[in-house]
Amino acid sequence: MTIIHNDTIDTLLNRRTIRAWSECEVSHDVIDTLEAAAQRAATSQYFNAWSAIRVTDEKIALKLAEIGNQPYIAQAPLLYVFIIDDHRNLRIAREAGVPEDEITLDSDYTFTQGQNDAVLALHAMETAAESLGLGCVILGSILNNSQAVIDTLHLPELTFPVLGLALGYPAVEPQLKPRMARELQIFDNTYPADNEHPSMTDALADFDAEVVTYYDTRDMSHPVRPFTEQVSSMANDRNRLQRAFGKPARRQGFTGRSF
Ligand SMILES: Cc1cc2nc3c(=O)[nH]c(=O)nc-3n(C[C@H](O)[C@H](O)[C@H](O)COP(=O)(O)O)c2cc1C
Repeated sequence: MTIIHNDTIDTLLNRRTIRAWSECEVSHDVIDTLEAAAQRAATSQYFNAWSAIRVTDEKIALKLAEIGNQPYIAQAPLLYVFIIDDHRNLRIAREAGVPEDEITLDSDYTFTQGQNDAVLALHAMETAAESLGLGCVILGSILNNSQAVIDTLHLPELTFPVLGLALGYPAVEPQLKPRMARELQIFDNTYPADNEHPSMTDALADFDAEVVTYYDTRDMSHPVRPFTEQVSSMANDRNRLQRAFGKPARRQGFTGRSF
């Protein structure tokens, strides 16, 4: 396997999550650059159905840290919450006189579109930040209580929190967390049937062995658990899903034959 190197590829290949930052302030120019990169991300149907809330109020940051149960959320020099935003488009439609009962901006599809937009924008910001020497952590933990985030940030109708992004100049240099072998994750043409992929078990065992050698910066005293053990223990997490979305955890027919 030959990897071609340039600055962009090297930024992507060296990305790792950073959860501790130095005191070094992030300049206005850097902030402007990160926000411009996020806004340049692709957006489904040109709906621009995302927004981001930059949190500078310490009380709000502390509240988000409490919701996420992760103190480092409030310690980051820069903190954003990316949201699905169909509120702006709803306003545009209403002001253009589109009849209320004809507006479809509240559909599952537009929700997914906005979520995709928000994630792409966040990822553009993350990559731009890494390229400038900053380190980031993506924050799914804010969805521990999505209603509390909605209340804290005063999110209006047709918006929903997607992810937080905490950034700053790294105070740590964690090792790269392993990724699985290509054969486990990238398939040719069709998804292989389970019995067509007998080597998956062996490849996963190899991956498990590699993963336990990784030390997470959150707890340097223990290596992380094997990948398959982590997945099995999280495969039944109804309470968390119920808290995040207020809905039953399972969606039938979501993708493929069953999900
Ligand atoms: C959608 C998403 C949500 C995440 N949420 C959190 C989080 O709430 N807190 C945290 O510390 N890390 C969070 N992470 C970071 C992952 O734990 C991390 O990416 C993963 O363990 C791989 O490590 P690496 O990014 O260093 O390669 C999240 C990552 C993603 C993609």
